[in-house]
Amino acid sequence: MRSRFYSKILALGMAVPPKVLTNFDLEKMVETSDEWITERTGIKERHLLEKEEVISTYAVKAAKEAIERANLSPHDINLIIAATLTPDYLMPSLSILVQKEIQAEKAGAFDLSATCSGFLYALVVADQFVRNNPDWKVLVIGAEALSRKTNWEDRSTCVLFGDGAGAAIVSSSEEESGILDFILGADGSNWHLLTLKGGGSTYFPFDERLPKEEYYIKMQGREVFKIAVRMMEKIALELLRRNGLSSKDLALLIPHQANLRIIEYLRERLELPKEKVFVNIHKYGNTSAASIPIALYEAAKEGLLKRGDYLLMVSFGGGFTFAGVLMRW
Ligand code: ACO
Repeated sequence: MRSRFYSKILALGMAVPPKVLTNFDLEKMVETSDEWITERTGIKERHLLEKEEVISTYAVKAAKEAIERANLSPHDINLIIAATLTPDYLMPSLSILVQKEIQAEKAGAFDLSATCSGFLYALVVADQFVRNNPDWKVLVIGAEALSRKTNWEDRSTCVLFGDGAGAAIVSSSEEESGILDFILGADGSNWHLLTLKGGGSTYFPFDERLPKEEYYIKMQGREVFKIAVRMMEKIALELLRRNGLSSKDLALLIPHQANLRIIEYLRERLELPKEKVFVNIHKYGNTSAASIPIALYEAAKEGLLKRGDYLLMVSFGGGFTFAGVLMRW
């Protein structure tokens, strides 16, 4: 039975590294063009860590901003969940580094791995904790440094990714608002289409059985594209249907920012006008688990979300993982 409490997003934060890599910069690195990248992906530029930087710096910045905007102190945080594929280290986790840096002494902390769906998975986990512990404040982070796992000689992937972090404070609400419903999905049958094998426990460090390119993200883009559009549409329609809503009821759709053509396809299938689908992929590329919280932050800042509005967020990522969260703002 559902508890009488709902969970809502109290405040948001985001941070990206200042270094920008444009499509024109990429033209000098691999055989590609601004025209191809823009036409096939919608991306114009992306933010990347400098060599000596770490992604926890930006996760901490985003977290501090969200805590401040929520008028809380780090001592008020009960739990930190960091969704990431690319923590600074495998041990300690990214969430622990954030916990130490912001001095959230009361907080438990763990990382969650669900690729590009990581933030929505983490939001749903936070929702469970908050509904059962209504005085809790959960810090949910999506932070990613995909540039560290990018093969800069592979033009089919290196044009796609960017680095950054977003954060949200989740707390309880007695009003029928906040997170109304969600879908978490997974399908491992096609896992081989999108992989990052190096760094796992199948292979030893520097294992000569593993070719060098397997230490980077490898993707069969066209096949991933087809699965992405099919699953995002399915999740969006299912969440609307089972809540007695139609896409016309939505104030905003925030899809994972992986490819503008995927977003456009979804928009057409849901018969939504352009202004109801949030897009910022041109500025950041695909930032994986950070993509949705960064988009949500910018949408809120632009005043696109008003109290009582229906918001739908949908994502997909390697694995494959899928997720959808329906909210009332
Ligand atoms: N510049 C110029 N040409 C290129 C580039 C490039 N950067 N990359 C590929 N091409 C070429 C290919 O070699 C191919 O040439 P050919 O026809 O002579 O063989 C041609 O362009 C078409 O290649 P496709 O791979 O079919 O191009 P497509 O239109 O499918 O676009 C892309 C590729 C952008 C990768 C697209 O398939 C895509 O976005 N897929 C989904 C990616 C995604 O969403 N991943 C999600 C998760 S990421 C994560 O979880 C970490």
